[in-house]
Amino acid sequence: MLNFTFQNPTHIHFGEGQISVLAKEVPLKARVLLVYGGGSIKANGVYQQVIDALSEHTYFEFSGIEPNPTYDTLMKAQDIIKRENIDYILAVGGGSVVDGAKFIAAAALYEGSSEGNDPWDILAKQQAVTKALPIGAVLTLPATGSESNGNSVVTRDGNKLPFSSPLVRPLFAVLDPNVTLSLSDRQISNGVVDAFIHTIEQYLTYSVNGKVQDRFSEGLLQTLIEEGPKALDPATKENLEVRANIMWSATMALNGLIGAGVPQDWSTHMIGHELTGAFGIDHARTLSIVLPAVMKVRKEQKREKLLQYASRVWQITEGDEDTRIDQAIRLTEEFFQQMQVPTRLSDVNLGSKDIDLLIERLEQHGMTALGEKSDITLAISREILTKAL
Ligand code: NZQ
Ligand code: ZN
Repeated sequence: MLNFTFQNPTHIHFGEGQISVLAKEVPLKARVLLVYGGGSIKANGVYQQVIDALSEHTYFEFSGIEPNPTYDTLMKAQDIIKRENIDYILAVGGGSVVDGAKFIAAAALYEGSSEGNDPWDILAKQQAVTKALPIGAVLTLPATGSESNGNSVVTRDGNKLPFSSPLVRPLFAVLDPNVTLSLSDRQISNGVVDAFIHTIEQYLTYSVNGKVQDRFSEGLLQTLIEEGPKALDPATKENLEVRANIMWSATMALNGLIGAGVPQDWSTHMIGHELTGAFGIDHARTLSIVLPAVMKVRKEQKREKLLQYASRVWQITEGDEDTRIDQAIRLTEEFFQQMQVPTRLSDVNLGSKDIDLLIERLEQHGMTALGEKSDITLAISREILTKAL
C-alpha cells in the first residue's frame, strides 16, 4: 500500500427529511448566498424545503448555474457577494451547482499572484487557492461526489478544466434520496455511470496490495451494477432503498476513501472532459465511451487488476486470462448499454475526423502524460479514441 494521509471532514446528513438540518448547520449570523441551477429545485419542492429551513437566516439567491458550469456564469455571482457582504455559500443541486459554488467561493477571496488576479488562473495555471468562503451543500443528483470532496470542474470557451483544494470541500452535505425521484432516466443513468467510473479510475490500475481499498471498490461497483438498472425499471425505480444505495455509493466513490493509498488513473476523465468541452456531450456519456477503449488499449498494463475485476466483480473464473479479461470488458459495455449510455464515438455521431481536435485540446491542456504511471502519451490517447470509434 502507498503512504497516505486521509481526512474527510464533511458532515453527511443522510435520509428523508434531512434538509431541515440546514436550520442548525448554517450559522445564524451568516450572510448566505443560496446558489442553484436552472430551476429543478423549484419544480420538485427542494427549494421550498430549503427556504423553510432558512426562515431565521439572512440569505440571497444566485441561480442559473448550468450543467458543466461556465466561468462566465459563475463570475456573475461576484457582484452580489460584494454588494451583500456574503460570507457563506449554500449550494443546492447536482455536481454542476456544487462545483460552481466551489469556484464562486474561491474566486470571491482570490488574491491573485504574479500572474495577475483573474480567478480563471486557479484552473488554467493551477494557482493555489489560499482562502475560500465556507460551503454547505444539498445534493439533488447522486453522481460526482462533489458534495464531500474538494474538486471542481469549470468550463470557459470550450476549455473544461479541473481544480482541487481542501478549502472548497463542503462543510456539510445533505443527502435525501427522496429528492432524486424527480430525476430523468438520463440523469439517473449518468449518475450511476459516473460513480462507477470514479471507482474504476481508483481501482483498475496496478496492485499495491491495498486490500481494504480494493474490496471497498469492488463493493461499490457491485452495488451500482445491482441497483443502477433498478432505478430505470418502472417496477422498482421509485424504491427509496434503491435510490439510497445509489446515492451513498456515489458519495463513497469519490470522497477520498477508496483512493487513499492506491494508484489512480483518471485518463478516462481527462479525455472525457475534452469530449464535453468540444462537443457538449454529458460528462458520464463521455466516460462510458472512453473507458472500454482504455481497458482494451491498456490491457497489458492493467492485466493483473483486470483479472481481479473479472473474478471479483463479474464472477468470471473460467477460461484463459485473455478470455476472462475480454469477457469482463464486454460485460462492462453491456452494463453501460443497460444503463442506456453510449459506448462508442459513433453512438454520439462522432468519427475519426473529430479525433485531431480532441488530441489538440489534450495537448493544449497539458494532458500529455495521463494514467497511473503518467505513461499515456498523446499517441496513446489517439489510440484510445480510435479504439472508441
Ligand atoms: O439545473 P437544474 O435545473 O437543477 O437541473 C439539473 C441539470 O439540468 C438536473 N437536476 C439535478 N438534480 C435534479 C435535476 N433534475 C430533476 N430532479 C433533480 N433532483 O440535472 C441536470 C444535470 O445536473 P448536473 O449538476 O450537471 O449533473 P452532475 O451531478 O452529473 O454534474 C456534472 C458536473 O460535475 C462535474 C462534471 O464534469 C460536470 O461538470 N464533475 C465533478 C466532479 C467532482 N467535483 O468531483 C467529478 C466528476 O468526475 C465530474 O467531472
Ligand atoms: Zn466523473
